[in-house]
Amino acid sequence: MNIEWDAEKYTRDFSFVSQYGSSLLDWIDGENLAVLDLGCGSGVLTKALAERGHDAEGLDASAELLQAARASYPELRFTQADAVRFQTNRTFDAVFSNAVLHWIEREKQPQLIAHVFDALKPGGQFVFEFGGYGNNARIHDALRRAFEARNRTYVMPFYFPKIGEYTSLLEQGGFLVRSALLLDRPTKLTGEDGLCDWIRMFVKTPFEGLSQTLAEEIIQSAAAELNAALYHDRNWYADYVRLRCKAVKPF
Ligand code: BEZ
Repeated sequence: MNIEWDAEKYTRDFSFVSQYGSSLLDWIDGENLAVLDLGCGSGVLTKALAERGHDAEGLDASAELLQAARASYPELRFTQADAVRFQTNRTFDAVFSNAVLHWIEREKQPQLIAHVFDALKPGGQFVFEFGGYGNNARIHDALRRAFEARNRTYVMPFYFPKIGEYTSLLEQGGFLVRSALLLDRPTKLTGEDGLCDWIRMFVKTPFEGLSQTLAEEIIQSAAAELNAALYHDRNWYADYVRLRCKAVKPF
């Protein structure tokens, strides 16, 4: 799924996406590696990879986010391509991906895994994290109820698999899975309007074709329902669940 991004707002108000992703860098073994940052967005973690001494380059489908990445880090190489179709002119020691794979439909995941496999050298590592089973379940359930109360259907726009499902796809794609975790990570959102802003930024396709008035009514209704569960001490906390994994291409 390719959506249009407000790169400035994304970088300013949703910096927690890359901040949390930085601990995933520790899952890459080795030094001075050729690393592809798959779905690099505005390039913050591509830069962090380079600062750790890796020969890092970024790939993303979004022209808006790549423009921001190139402006911030002109010394790094960024390529525009779709994660399920990309080809590279060299092979990598590691493919790294943070908070990206849930944007890709279940049916296209084998294709993505095959492209990552082809992009890696033998022994290369695929280190990634994305939304796992149950990710943002309260938010999506509240949105579903708000849609249905208005005789609309809420179509879940993300893929949040269980560990067994995704590691099986990796194994079917030829990978050896070395580590996999599914963990809760309640995530503090920015500002009094943090949950509504988060929904406006990330949950786009279910609202396509609705008037702005109806869309706002649904968002406010979901937020009101979620207040008791997700709003504490004047902050919103989204109910994130991460699937974190490391798989290796056999020699
Ligand atoms: C995530 O990082 O888990 C995520 C972010 C936005 C929308 C869906 C999932």
